Amino acid sequence: MNQLQITAFGDPSVLRLANVPDGEPAEGQVRVRIHYAGVNPIDAKTRAGLGWAAAQNKDKLPWTPGYDVAGIVEARGPGVCELAVGDRVCGMVGFPLSAGGYGESVVVGETELVKLERLDLAQGAALPLAGLTGWQGLFEHGELLAGQRVLILAAAGGVGHLAVQWACDAGAEVVALASPANHDFVLGLGAKAVLDYHAPDWPAQVGAVDLVLDLVGGESGKQALACVKPGGRLITVPTLTAEAIKAAGAERGIEVRGMLVHPDKPALARMVALLEQGGARIEIAHTFPLAEGALAHQAIEVGHTRGKLLLRMDGHA
Ligand SMILES: NC(=O)c1ccc[n+]([C@@H]2O[C@H](COP(=O)([O-])OP(=O)(O)OC[C@H]3O[C@@H](n4cnc5c(N)ncnc54)[C@H](OP(=O)(O)O)[C@@H]3O)[C@@H](O)[C@H]2O)c1
Repeated sequence: MNQLQITAFGDPSVLRLANVPDGEPAEGQVRVRIHYAGVNPIDAKTRAGLGWAAAQNKDKLPWTPGYDVAGIVEARGPGVCELAVGDRVCGMVGFPLSAGGYGESVVVGETELVKLERLDLAQGAALPLAGLTGWQGLFEHGELLAGQRVLILAAAGGVGHLAVQWACDAGAEVVALASPANHDFVLGLGAKAVLDYHAPDWPAQVGAVDLVLDLVGGESGKQALACVKPGGRLITVPTLTAEAIKAAGAERGIEVRGMLVHPDKPALARMVALLEQGGARIEIAHTFPLAEGALAHQAIEVGHTRGKLLLRMDGHA
């Protein structure tokens, strides 16, 4: 099977196609024939040698990026009880170390996968990491409740456009930040108001909120502290600037928490059900053939994707 590998950290050109044997599933594992893989900013950061996953993998290259996959179960190891050959599945796999989604097959534990009934495989590959990040940021770390007001930064992006919908579905009032070209898109997801983050006075325009979901970090995360009500909280998602924003929050007496998304099969199953029932939708900005993975990384690194980017394996339209 073909997969994209890196043998050294660097710019997107280090992503190279390699032909390797399919893996054999061991106890509790299945082999999935991947149709689509999701592209996330962490894939590009790790490829460039940044962050925790790069530090852990530096002596274990080659490494194949990709945590989000959707495809068909084609082989089962011993002890697999929930999944059958032929099942359509998606999941966040090998997080955060082994990854391996940018390829035509992957061997993973069945506990990492959720069965898809009606959701198409492209949507299934776009959902897991971004959907779980939004879900866990809002509900596990943010403890968001119905009737509360939440500010979501980068609301048109991969995590943001799903988080807007999860928060609206939970009965919260969503105020969002996006550039003007994305305002109608974000309002269409259910946000009550959308503001342009280029306006210097955006924190004053937002007013007071119970929770901020900061998907930008850096100076934007610090500026958003001005919107947090007494007793409220800011969840900062980009890990590289989390400590600086926590320190800025501590100076102002505002609770700031960082987070790292984690696999959560029940939450993923709930999000799949919501999508299958039409209660939410995923925007797919562009789908690249596997061989053009470097172009997908260039695109995610620009930082202005609306929704999600995907890789498509050969033979799957
Ligand atoms: N800690 C974790 O476990 C974890 C998990 C997932 C993601 N992350 C991190 O969270 C961040 C968001 O991830 P993502 O997948 O949603 O990224 P993404 O899809 O690349 O986000 C793109 C969006 O960011 C918006 N944006 C860019 N600069 C902005 C700014 N200054 N203010 C407001 N919005 C801005 C863009 O909006 P416009 O086009 O409207 O300008 C675009 O819609 C990334 O840094 C990622 O690495 C962390």
